[in-house]
Order: sequence, then C-alpha cells, then structure tokens
Amino acid sequence: MAHRIVTLPGDGIGPEIMAAAEQVLGELGDFQLEEQLVGGASIDAHGTALTDEVLDACRGADAALLAAVGGPKWDTTDPAKPRPEQGLLGLRKGLGLFANLRPVRPSPALLDSSPLKRELIEDTDLLVVRELTGGIYFGERGLNGDTAYDTCVYSEAEVERIARVGFELARRKVTSVDKANILETSRLWRKVVDRVGAGEDTPLEHMLVDNAAMQLVSRPAEFDVILTENMFGDILSDEAAMLTGSLGMLPSASLGDGSGPGLFEPVHGSAPDIAGTGTANPLAMFGSVALMLRHGLAMENEATALESAVDRALGDGLRTPDLGGDATTEAATRAVVANL
Ligand code: IPM
Ligand code: MG
Repeated sequence: MAHRIVTLPGDGIGPEIMAAAEQVLGELGDFQLEEQLVGGASIDAHGTALTDEVLDACRGADAALLAAVGGPKWDTTDPAKPRPEQGLLGLRKGLGLFANLRPVRPSPALLDSSPLKRELIEDTDLLVVRELTGGIYFGERGLNGDTAYDTCVYSEAEVERIARVGFELARRKVTSVDKANILETSRLWRKVVDRVGAGEDTPLEHMLVDNAAMQLVSRPAEFDVILTENMFGDILSDEAAMLTGSLGMLPSASLGDGSGPGLFEPVHGSAPDIAGTGTANPLAMFGSVALMLRHGLAMENEATALESAVDRALGDGLRTPDLGGDATTEAATRAVVANL
C-alpha cells in the first residue's frame, strides 16, 4: 500500500521547495500525498496557523512533511494575533514529537564552502538531539504592563525520554548541554541524564551551553550526539548548520514515542526575501525527505540513495546562490534526480 504523507508547504519559499520534494518522491516510490495548510497560509484561510482538521489529517498519516512557515505579512507583537510559528509548535505538541534530530554532516564537496576552515570541519559528523515539546517554548508566559516573563519548565519524565533517544542514537559519546551553573531546570536535566547514562555503555559528558557554542566552531569534529533542551537546541543547531556551508543544507526529523507519525522539515525558515524567485536551495528539504524515508517510513535504502544523490550532485558542482552559485531550485532538483 502507498505510504500516506501529509505535505505542508506553508509560506515563503515553502511551496517552491515542497514542489521539488514531490518531484524527488515521485522517483523513489509510491506515495499518496495530501496537501494541507499551515502557518501564514492557514492564518489567511482560517484565521489560525493550524486547524484541528489539519492536525487530525497528520495524525492519520504515515508521516508529515513540512517546508517552512512565517513571513513579514504575519509579523506582529500583539499577543492576541495569530503567528505562523504557532502552527509548527501546535504540530509538534499535538503529535507528541518530543525528539528533534538534526544531523550535521558537511558534504565532502562543500568542505570549502563553510565559513570555517576545511581542517576544522573535515571529520564533523554530529547529531543535535533537541528536546522539542517542553522548556521555555511551552511554559507559562505573559505581559503585565511594562514587564514580560517566560517560564522554563521540565519534568524528570520529559528529560528522561529525550536522554534515552540521545543514547540510542550515539555512536561515540553523548554531550549533554545545559546551563546547570545557573538554571534549576538544567540541574534537574543533568541529574536525570546522569541517571540514564549510568545504565549505558556510551560515555557521557556535560557541557555548559556557552562553552558548547564556542566548541562547536573551535572543534566541531569532537562532537557526536549533542543532547539538549528546546531553546539551547534551537540556537546551537543554527550555529551547527553553518558548518555545512549554509543553513539551506540542514534537515530535521521530529519524532514521538513511535505510536504516531513523525514530522520532517528543513531547519531553515521561509526566506521571504527570495520567495518566488525560484532560487531557494531545496537540499535541506531533500535531506528532510531522506530522514522521513529512514525514520518515518522504514525505507533506509531509498533514504541512503537520496542522500548519496545529493552528495554526487554537489560533487558535480551543483551550487545554489546560498552556496555561492547560481543554480535555480529547478536545476538543483534536476541534478539530484539525475543522480538518483
Ligand atoms: C526551528 C525554528 C522554530 C523553532 C521556529 C520557527 C518556531 O527556528 O525549528 O528551529 O524555534 O523551533
Ligand atoms: Mg530554529
């Protein structure tokens, strides 16, 4: 039976890179695609960034593939107005996707495209395991007159389940990143990760987040799994993305306890400045399709084939503008399809 995938093109360059993804999927198997609205596109149609119908459609699918949400049209500081990002957070929370995986592996052809020296990134192959449904993203927040607050909350159970994912996926070691010299949530985090780590063979180290930000650019190849909470993971994964040469290269998988579908999306945003120009880099989107094939649909061979095709296309010289070239989204898609 064909795998059922809900596609969520979203905003900005989203529809352009989703069209590219659909073309690639067409080469890889039999998929039943159902397109739905999310983000600004959903706000325009329904006044909310995510409707219950769309969330239900995702629940009923084998996987959800999202391109990007957001744009200046919906930017607002009014807490009463809907924001596109709420669609994304609603999907993550609504589908119970607590584990966000962001693999960072510079393609051999791009070793000179990174702002860091080739020698530094050559052996980099790391995985950010970001907790995705807790912490300051989902704690109580408010605005009282001239004072605002956001609360960071973690329970032991929330830390424990993401720590288990980190150890499961580690090959050499787990680096747990926190701010335990300041934050109570980080001290709880450290205690629980220690407890989980005690029952594992994989070595565990703890690192403060400011130090981790520095080590990511000074010796990125030392890292294997970076296990961290929601907001630290958000920030560190953008930093780590640049090791690959461009934020346009980094894919992600968001997974739950395995009982429902995962959500797969590039780490980059909707790039409103280049939307409609046909020049968006679709490679992070293809990487996200590969993660969907691997983690969401148990199609490891197809996932590897797609990743290799991307590497070969880059090896042949494929460069979109974010990588210093002039390939269009369409040309990039053709190059990858030709290598499949
Ligand atoms: C990401 C994005 C989102 C996040 C935004 C769009 C809400 O930056 O997936 O990293 O902060 O999680
Ligand atoms: Mg981010």
